[in-house]
Amino acid sequence: MNWDSLFAARTKHMKRSTVREILKLTARPEVISFAGGLPAPELFPMERIQQATDTVLSERGREVMQYSTSEGMPELRGLIAKRLSSGKFQVNADNILITSGSQQALDMIARVLLDEHDQVAVENPTYVGMLTSWKPFDLQFSAVPTDANGMCVDDLEILLNNAPHKVMYSVPTFQNPQGTTLSRERRQKLAEILVNHNLPFVEDDPYSALRYSGDSVPSILQFEADLRGSTTPEGCVMYCGTFSKTLTPGLRIGWVAAAFPVIDKLVQVKQATDLHTSTLTQFITYEVARDEAFLDGHIAMLRDVYRQRRDLMLQTIEEHFPHEVTWTRPEGGLFLMVTMPPHLDATEILKQALAQDVAFVPGDGFYIGDTGRNTFRLNYSNARPEMIVEGIRRLGVVLKANV
Ligand SMILES: Cc1ncc(COP(=O)(O)O)c(C=O)c1O
Repeated sequence: MNWDSLFAARTKHMKRSTVREILKLTARPEVISFAGGLPAPELFPMERIQQATDTVLSERGREVMQYSTSEGMPELRGLIAKRLSSGKFQVNADNILITSGSQQALDMIARVLLDEHDQVAVENPTYVGMLTSWKPFDLQFSAVPTDANGMCVDDLEILLNNAPHKVMYSVPTFQNPQGTTLSRERRQKLAEILVNHNLPFVEDDPYSALRYSGDSVPSILQFEADLRGSTTPEGCVMYCGTFSKTLTPGLRIGWVAAAFPVIDKLVQVKQATDLHTSTLTQFITYEVARDEAFLDGHIAMLRDVYRQRRDLMLQTIEEHFPHEVTWTRPEGGLFLMVTMPPHLDATEILKQALAQDVAFVPGDGFYIGDTGRNTFRLNYSNARPEMIVEGIRRLGVVLKANV
């Protein structure tokens, strides 16, 4: 049976995620992996999760084993709404939809907003998981350049003045893959552009709770609402959040915060996709997270550990990488990005690094257009300190042999 001739046309844009394929290569225990976006498993709050599971199963067992509403558990939506509110800006539980990870939110947003050949603006490079999800819609991606302060918003304005775009997608805070953050000034400008053009904007924000240095900046969701003079999310920003990096990714609990008409439409897609996110993991997540003092303390602990790992990686890079190579210096999140001289290809370097039992993700998959081959992404949250030092040292040897 030749299945290839039978698959739908949209599958020609589908391919396995490079990151997930590389993760398979790193399954050997001796490999020091800077490849995945994995949180540190030794920091998962296992005891709390165990207690919460026991509590929900013994106290609400039949309810958690039952079908539940597509919008998600009301108490969990309320808690997320409260944590997103600040000052006059108040998010209501009706503005929240619980999703199976924020990845599902991205996929559903594409399904409610995008038609074939629509123009979509993204920062370049961008999150590869969004590209995997959105490419089958056969879209035209426009690339907005980035620098150390995130997306160059002046270039976005020029782009939008030249051609109407349907949606923009961005990770403004501790971006995946670069770790860079959109500055406060640029957020203000971006909000103005969004309001002027009434451009639907997906703010993908898995990382903002993980800040290790510098001053925190409000979300685009909030900037845009302030500019419109609204105290609730009723504008063009669809904000995607997740418990994957602050609790555990295995629970698969994410959310969208947006204007009610968007939530209403997404609920219709949710009903078609999986009816609702797992009742059990929503209840467990709520049971853990409703103790906000615990949750905040846990996040503070993560920040301390990841800050040390980031600092150690940056310091070791400084010591061992050749001077022809440059890299980003993130204030938070899980990643930094390395740029090698233009003649080097990160996929080739990866082969040599894997021979030394070190892994990373080549950057080209994150880029729109045929560029980024000389870049790669490093994760610093997952490897223990001694592994960070040894892995970066080995990578330095490989790089020095190539530049
Ligand atoms: C920018 C970005 N968006 C979305 C996701 C998906 O996260 P989740 O586990 O919530 O589906 C990730 C995961 O690494 C990410 O980096």
